[in-house]
Amino acid sequence: MTTSRADLPLLVDRSAGPPLALQLTAQLRDAVTTGVLLAGDKLPSTRDLATTLEVSRTVVTTAYAQLFAEGWLEGRHGSGTYVADVVPALPRLPDAAPSPAPDLSSALAAFSTSPPAPAARPAARDSGSASNFIELVTGVPWAAGIDPAMWRRAWRHAGTQAPSFFPDPFGLPELRAELAHYLRRSRGLAVTPEHVLVTRGVANGLSAIAAALVQPGDRVGVEEPGYEGAREVLRRAGAQIVACRVDGAGVVPEELPGDLKLLYVTPAHQYPLGGRLPVHRRQALTAWARSTGAVIVEDDYDGEFRYDVAPLPALYSMDPEVVVYLGTASKMLTPVFGVGWLAASPDLVRLLAERRREVSERVPEPAQHALLAMLTSGDLERHVRRMRLEYGRRRAALMTLPELRGDSAGLHVVLELRRPAAEFVDAAAERGVGLSDVDRFFLGPPTLNAVVLGYGATPLTQVRRAAAALLPLLPT
Ligand SMILES: Cc1ncc(COP(=O)(O)O)c(C=O)c1O
Repeated sequence: MTTSRADLPLLVDRSAGPPLALQLTAQLRDAVTTGVLLAGDKLPSTRDLATTLEVSRTVVTTAYAQLFAEGWLEGRHGSGTYVADVVPALPRLPDAAPSPAPDLSSALAAFSTSPPAPAARPAARDSGSASNFIELVTGVPWAAGIDPAMWRRAWRHAGTQAPSFFPDPFGLPELRAELAHYLRRSRGLAVTPEHVLVTRGVANGLSAIAAALVQPGDRVGVEEPGYEGAREVLRRAGAQIVACRVDGAGVVPEELPGDLKLLYVTPAHQYPLGGRLPVHRRQALTAWARSTGAVIVEDDYDGEFRYDVAPLPALYSMDPEVVVYLGTASKMLTPVFGVGWLAASPDLVRLLAERRREVSERVPEPAQHALLAMLTSGDLERHVRRMRLEYGRRRAALMTLPELRGDSAGLHVVLELRRPAAEFVDAAAERGVGLSDVDRFFLGPPTLNAVVLGYGATPLTQVRRAAAALLPLLPT
């Protein structure tokens, strides 16, 4: 149960000084920056605070409205006013238009009776306090955007399901059937339940494939630059990792070696550069796999989030015999949910399930039931539609920056730079914005000078502030 901070040390001085609302605004802002108020703390209602301070309610509403507009506070439908989970990086703008209406980000953050955990705080930078820092992290979705009612419905359903006698190594049959249905309607994959294996996510699916198909020393291709997590999973399976060049559109099929056992790719939204692999390259890729005997692993980690572009056919649907498709709820919902899926030939699915049985590996059944409930009720797809709009707004806020790429899908964009990226990262940090140098996605020497800006976990107000802070650092 959240109690509001009615005991806040606030004072108003009627005898002199600035107007009462300004005094209150300044004191509340100070309380946040000095840590007296923490992310998620509930503020007293305007009525209660007005009574305590013996001021008119308009004084308090004006102060709250200003702090909302600056991003220090957020509102949750029907449950009051809270300290925002990320505090703004920039000094407040004196002329910011006060608006008591919180943006959708804030409104959706209503989570039962307890506030969400504050967003991960960045490590303190040399310059300035960590609490004022906006971290544009990549790969993390906005878990606070999950509608609490939908979440409760799903887990209530899961709680009513009696546990099975023993874990099914394929995953719950009803979930496999529903996932097949989902993949058919959302991705155009011609699959039946026999093609589907329930996993704990992309990393888990990839690790199962590697355990079944890759022998120590086998040469396995990964995108360069690419997803470090996938590289590491394959390396731990004993594979010899081969970096395969990626350009603005994705992997370059003509340059692929002929001796790869497996190739891991992200054709819908290349991670991290954001290319969408064109159809002719997709055809060239599957032809390459057929001629060399390699297996292609298609990671469709964030394919749900597409903006202003039509979907391209999944690689899997172009040649299901040479492609294994990996999907996950990690970006749609949250990585802590820990459920994903894989589509492959029924033979491979049986082999993977058998291997899983041998090592007693399983996907927790309650989470499978919860996913099933979200799929059958339509809640999951409604959630994705809502999030697409929300992420679209954040992306639009970043589009004010020049030289962006990879912006047609996903939860991040790439900003190409003329000056050294490391220097830009430092300059951005000095202005209160945390970014990733694209370097870390390279296995070999980096060939691109760029930074990655993730907006999945950062509320719209903060994304706007970050964009405003970065703009002066870029050439006009
Ligand atoms: C390209 C890519 N694939 C997959 C994942 C994670 O998927 P999962 O949580 O299902 O393992 C990430 C997470 O950042 C990612 O960037």
